[in-house]
Amino acid sequence: MAAGLQGVPGLLLVCRGPACGIARSAARALGAEAVEAQGKLFPDAESYVRIDAEARGRAAVAVVTGFPEPSRSVVEEMLLVEALRGLGAASVTAFMPYTPYSRQDRRFLRGEPVSIRAVLRGLAAAGADAYATVDIHKPYSLDWFPGPAANIDPSPVFAEALRPLLGGDTVYVVAPDRGALPRAHRLAERLGAAFDYLEKTRDRVTGEVTIKPKTLDVSGAAVVLVDDIVSTGGTLAKAARLLLEAGAKRVLAAVTHCLLVGNAVEKLEQSGLETLVCGNTVEPRWEKARTADLGPVAAEALRGLVERLHGYEKEL
Ligand code: R5P
Repeated sequence: MAAGLQGVPGLLLVCRGPACGIARSAARALGAEAVEAQGKLFPDAESYVRIDAEARGRAAVAVVTGFPEPSRSVVEEMLLVEALRGLGAASVTAFMPYTPYSRQDRRFLRGEPVSIRAVLRGLAAAGADAYATVDIHKPYSLDWFPGPAANIDPSPVFAEALRPLLGGDTVYVVAPDRGALPRAHRLAERLGAAFDYLEKTRDRVTGEVTIKPKTLDVSGAAVVLVDDIVSTGGTLAKAARLLLEAGAKRVLAAVTHCLLVGNAVEKLEQSGLETLVCGNTVEPRWEKARTADLGPVAAEALRGLVERLHGYEKEL
């Protein structure tokens, strides 16, 4: 039995490629075994995976992350879940540190799918009993998983990583849009700072981002921008520039999933952003970014889910 887990038969984490860093870190915190699944591509580009481990009767967690290959990651997560079922695992939790397709959580335009609903239902249909992820774009999306689900909060780890960088400066935590305000609130509470958000709009067809100047008294402050995803870098770069123009002394950022696609790094380098702290849900693509290990907070969430699946209820 894994150390510290109540009523859970020997916990096993099985990971693929870029998810193995956070999986191994979570496994260490749980005193559990982590193994990397074998994988290859067939000549026609289909995925193949194989788990060379004993899973019979064990609580298993399949760990695949949604970047750099969002569509393949969903299929590989389904394949690991299905393979663990075949090996006789007592329970299977799907853990996607970065959940792909999470931004299409509504039909913004007629004829569109609710993509995240299809992904979560698909994973359940493949045999996942529970689902875990880190800082999903909209937490309500997890209601579409028909079983227990956990949304891991990175803010305790981000606060620890940022504190030594902030020195004695007055700190202001800012969300680049209203949707990220709860993230700013959580981080600001831990840093004992004020918080607010900027007014961002995105063209649903072109993806172009506009951020309106807002009256925020950030003059002389160290501003920490907080967001779930940095993809093309447009949002973060525009927000950093605007805050520096508004008189901020320094602008730093804490972002859970640093995808940094296309020329995102170049945009950030030119924006005046001083530091980017990223979670290790995807592999870092910018040597200047500081990576914060979210394995220990993931471990706590996984512990709660698997204990629940195996019938252990904490006494209140
Ligand atoms: C959107 O609502 C998200 O929270 C991020 O702000 C967005 O995905 C960032 O995208 P980009 O880096 O392409 O501007």
